[in-house]
Amino acid sequence: MRKKIVAGNWKMNLTSKEAVALNNACEQQIHQPKCDVYQFVPSLFIPLLNDANNFIQIGAQNGHPEKSGAYTGEISMYQLTEEGVRSVLIGHSERRHLFNEGDSFLKKKVDAALEQGITPFYCVGEQLEQRENDTHIETVVNQLTQGCFHLSEVDFEKMVIAYEPVWAIGTGKTASPEQANDMHAEIRNAIANQYSAQLAEKITILYGGSCKPSNASELFAKEHIDGGLIGGASLNADDFLQIINAIN
Ligand code: PGA
Repeated sequence: MRKKIVAGNWKMNLTSKEAVALNNACEQQIHQPKCDVYQFVPSLFIPLLNDANNFIQIGAQNGHPEKSGAYTGEISMYQLTEEGVRSVLIGHSERRHLFNEGDSFLKKKVDAALEQGITPFYCVGEQLEQRENDTHIETVVNQLTQGCFHLSEVDFEKMVIAYEPVWAIGTGKTASPEQANDMHAEIRNAIANQYSAQLAEKITILYGGSCKPSNASELFAKEHIDGGLIGGASLNADDFLQIINAIN
């Protein structure tokens, strides 16, 4: 049985007070979740939230691969581990496109995170043009190949993959459950080809991109969809809890 996960991505939202209130509201209402629950929060909030939780694991939205040095404005994977962080987003489309993070840099982040015992949630996804040109599968497999397929089988097993079509992020347009499931199957297939069918079966693959209470059950019912990476809807406790409860 693959591990099911619902993870929120707060992005650059909330003040400290609002963050604590939202975290507490979610924590208090989660009872016997059928999945692991994460919130990827602005790093500023990590020390405020990390110790307080029973159910929600607090992750970082970013981490620099170098341990320390002259990287003004950055926080290293090493520093995150020291704060008790055990998971990090890598390759989110906003980092790829707004901050020009390329595959070789993302690969370094994956290596640094694993070295520090942090689970990478490695995000992949095509842009609208690539889907329209029918190069979406190639694009996603290439992102996996460049960022992760250098890993040993033992290390790859520690990864979580999130498929987030760029055209669905924050747009209100969701991939249909069939489109999402097909891409998840392609991702699993690529992992099977690179490593083994057994490993491919074990890897948790999340869907992200306008996942909300109204569509979560349908998405999560699909064979290859093991949960969600939730942006906008993770900022509202009721919506986030409904999505957690949609895991079957
Ligand atoms: P969204 O964001 O749910 O607001 O579309 C998803 C993400 O960027 O992880």
